[in-house]
Amino acid sequence: MAGNGEDGMRLNTKLIHGGVDGDEKTGAVSVPIYQTSTYRQLELGHTKGYEYSRTGNPTREALEKLIAELEEGKAGFAFASGMAAITAVLFLFKSGDKIVISSNVYGGTFRVLDKIFLQFGLNYEIVDTTDLDALDKKFAADKSVKALMIESPANPLLTVTDIAASAEIAHRHGALAIVDNTFMTPYLQRPLTLGADIVVHSATKYLGGHSDLVAGLAVTNNEEIAKRLAFIQNSTGGVLEPFDSWLLIRGIKTLSVRMDRHIQNAEFIAKWLLEQKGVKHVYYPGLSAAQGYSIQKKQASGAGAIISFELSEEYNIREFFKSVRLVTLGESLGGVESLLCHPASMTHASIPYEIRQKVGITDNLIRLSVGIEDKNDLVSDLAAAFSKAGRK
Ligand SMILES: Cc1ncc(COP(=O)(O)O)c(C=O)c1O
Repeated sequence: MAGNGEDGMRLNTKLIHGGVDGDEKTGAVSVPIYQTSTYRQLELGHTKGYEYSRTGNPTREALEKLIAELEEGKAGFAFASGMAAITAVLFLFKSGDKIVISSNVYGGTFRVLDKIFLQFGLNYEIVDTTDLDALDKKFAADKSVKALMIESPANPLLTVTDIAASAEIAHRHGALAIVDNTFMTPYLQRPLTLGADIVVHSATKYLGGHSDLVAGLAVTNNEEIAKRLAFIQNSTGGVLEPFDSWLLIRGIKTLSVRMDRHIQNAEFIAKWLLEQKGVKHVYYPGLSAAQGYSIQKKQASGAGAIISFELSEEYNIREFFKSVRLVTLGESLGGVESLLCHPASMTHASIPYEIRQKVGITDNLIRLSVGIEDKNDLVSDLAAAFSKAGRK
């Protein structure tokens, strides 16, 4: 997938041996779980490098080194959730600043800006970041814009933004470019190499991969931002605990094989969905007719495995959700099991109805996180749900 890194390892090898490779002292091939809150100090003012686990923990550090290497950044930071990572990044800004966000982002990202940061004077504005001219004009017209925060492909409509071009616009106007890389993972897309300054992840999703942990990561290639993020992480304290850090390192080891299968299944199902009469529209950046198809091909090495589709009005959406047996109705995505969600009432419910309508998150939209089960079983399950949900 990727070429040689600085240390000579290709990405598939880095997934297994990157960061801290096992345990130097005992030869254990798995990084130890340092389940400790504090560390014995040698004498006043002298430590072995660790003082307190909010500030630093060797298991968390192994994960932080690993994600920094995978994203080709200088420093990584692990948090208790994707939202804690995003919150820490937003703490880089101050009252009076404005963040421009793409028109469909995860509902929680919108909510933290709208309901928390706005109270403290950090403003935000939703912009269609696929329209680079409009984006450039927004930056030119409003000097308070200090950052661009995008998801590409975005949640839930899989809208693709040109990362290199939009980061260039942000930089030209003295702002930072932040990319939520949750849907892609560094296996498919490395935004820092395209010009972004900060990458964030809900590691709860593909990086963890097994729907058994909640975690967030942030990576930067800028030393100054790294120093500030380290300070924010320690000051605000939303750190990832040692066991979940270890679980995440374990999940990351199989990222490439999982993603390959996720994508194989997703490509198959996206094409199958196109042929279903109950489907009005399929959103998947791997389809040649999709918005941003060529940009996606240019900036990522795959289209991922999230598909959204709009059920036609003749079909009963409640019945559809009730009728799936193998595919699970649930929040989240990126696990080995296929998950189905209704963005309007679940992941994006915190976005007001009018905004949802404006950006295309309709009440008939269904988001499917394609797992790694047998694709034919998944199709049979969905086919049965279509046939039950079709109004007579
Ligand atoms: C793209 C994206 N970013 C961030 C988050 C938030 O992450 P977490 O749920 O780990 O806090 C999510 C969660 O669904 C997401 O999909």
